[in-house]
Amino acid sequence: MIRKAVAPEAATLDAWKDRIANREAKVGIVGLGYVGLPLALLFSEERFAVTGFDVDSLKVDFLNKGKSYIHRIEAESIQAAQKNGFVATADFSEARYLDAILICVPTPIDDHSAPDMSYVVNTIEALAPHLHAGQLVVLESTTYPGTTEEIIAATIDRIGEETDVQVLRDRHSQEAEMPQELDGVMVAFSPEREDPGNTDVERHDIPKVIGGIDRRASEAAEVLYASIFRRTVRVSTPATAEMTKLLENIYRCVNIAMVNELKQLCMRMGIDIWEVIDAAATKPFGFQAFYPGPGIGGHCIPVDPFYLSWKAKEYHFSTRFIELAGEVNRSMPEHVIRSVVNALNDQGKSIKGAKVLMLGLAYKKDIDDLRESPSLPIYEMLEKKGAEVRYNDPYFPRVGSGRKYWLNTESAPLENLDQYDCVVIVTDHSAYDFEKIVAESRLVVDTRNATRGIRSPKIYHC
Ligand SMILES: NC(=O)c1ccc[n+]([C@@H]2O[C@H](COP(=O)([O-])OP(=O)(O)OC[C@H]3O[C@@H](n4cnc5c(N)ncnc54)[C@H](O)[C@@H]3O)[C@@H](O)[C@H]2O)c1
Repeated sequence: MIRKAVAPEAATLDAWKDRIANREAKVGIVGLGYVGLPLALLFSEERFAVTGFDVDSLKVDFLNKGKSYIHRIEAESIQAAQKNGFVATADFSEARYLDAILICVPTPIDDHSAPDMSYVVNTIEALAPHLHAGQLVVLESTTYPGTTEEIIAATIDRIGEETDVQVLRDRHSQEAEMPQELDGVMVAFSPEREDPGNTDVERHDIPKVIGGIDRRASEAAEVLYASIFRRTVRVSTPATAEMTKLLENIYRCVNIAMVNELKQLCMRMGIDIWEVIDAAATKPFGFQAFYPGPGIGGHCIPVDPFYLSWKAKEYHFSTRFIELAGEVNRSMPEHVIRSVVNALNDQGKSIKGAKVLMLGLAYKKDIDDLRESPSLPIYEMLEKKGAEVRYNDPYFPRVGSGRKYWLNTESAPLENLDQYDCVVIVTDHSAYDFEKIVAESRLVVDTRNATRGIRSPKIYHC
């Protein structure tokens, strides 16, 4: 059942701000996944009536029954939000009742590492016929610079030609006093910077970067987000905000690739890369620690940099750092396989026919996200080499199949570990007792330095 309400009446920016301050404003979140659902709950906690939109009717049904489908979100949080007016729907015509609509839909890459903008395009095409002057539309999905102008604003203008609804654009110089009338749709970009599983930083402590097409859009977005986030950072254009997010993720991707490469050199030189990083991290300036691993995963780091590589081609520019980092990071699962082969070989065993248990499938510790996880190619390559592979992951009791994998198997119990020829630590979930795991296993290949401090000839660092 959908909450009925009057369409927002704010004709001026001040009236719009009042609706935010008085919590009369209604907020819509499109895409109720890892990003959108927690964001919807944050706004609900701040006493905004929230409407969540998703094309997945199962998710909509689940939420309207007060249930959660994300591990770290309790059903009680959904139920509490419902008491504050939260409803989920697949009916985009509900958008006409809202003051602000935040878009958090997927932005994956296709098989050729090109942006797949279909989710963003479908979303704005579904929303645009229901938009009207005085509403704020913010894209939060990670994307290449130019998307907010070229897809979001352009679609609203195109579809709005029939209904006379256009995007608000400042026609005055930046020095002139900002106009107050809201005679169009305000459009902005504000990247989602969440770090799933990170319990050190609360989401509202992550500053919110905002870039509006028009000064009124920037200001409205800033006022809205300031009711949730402790700090907002306004930049001059949506493209600047889009690029900011990409810089952050490319910085991570490139630095992870660098330590992954240095790790392989250190192994040959008999140097412990982890000890090196710890020592380097004592420098109080100019160094930030990044850690090697079995490869990169998740919806962001393996994907986002290629949005920029793709866009750069339009400018006849080659993003060499991104390509190189991608190449090194993508090769890490092969490095893990080589290490397993060598470790077994040292024990006089062949990979063919070996019983191997992979610990952890999630792309990083303590989360239930399998997207782009390096565990998937590792599993597949081990099987191709003839190993008999099982996995254990407390976050995935069962794994079916996805676009890029086909496992269809269940998590093996974490017992009788001596039945396996090799246990490979792929994800260092906090739930694992690595001391016990080493004690009970015959051979442990550690891709995460999870066995740090444990002395045993059974451990093979990788
Ligand atoms: N997951 C993260 O940690 C993270 C962090 C920062 C930024 N981001 C970015 O946020 C965006 C969303 O990522 P996510 O992890 O939440 O994705 P997700 O796949 O978990 O969720 C996206 C949701 O959007 C829904 N959806 C798809 N098409 C839709 C449409 N046309 N209309 C309405 N709903 C639709 C899907 O059903 C799904 O529920 C991406 O651009 C991602 O790069 C993600």
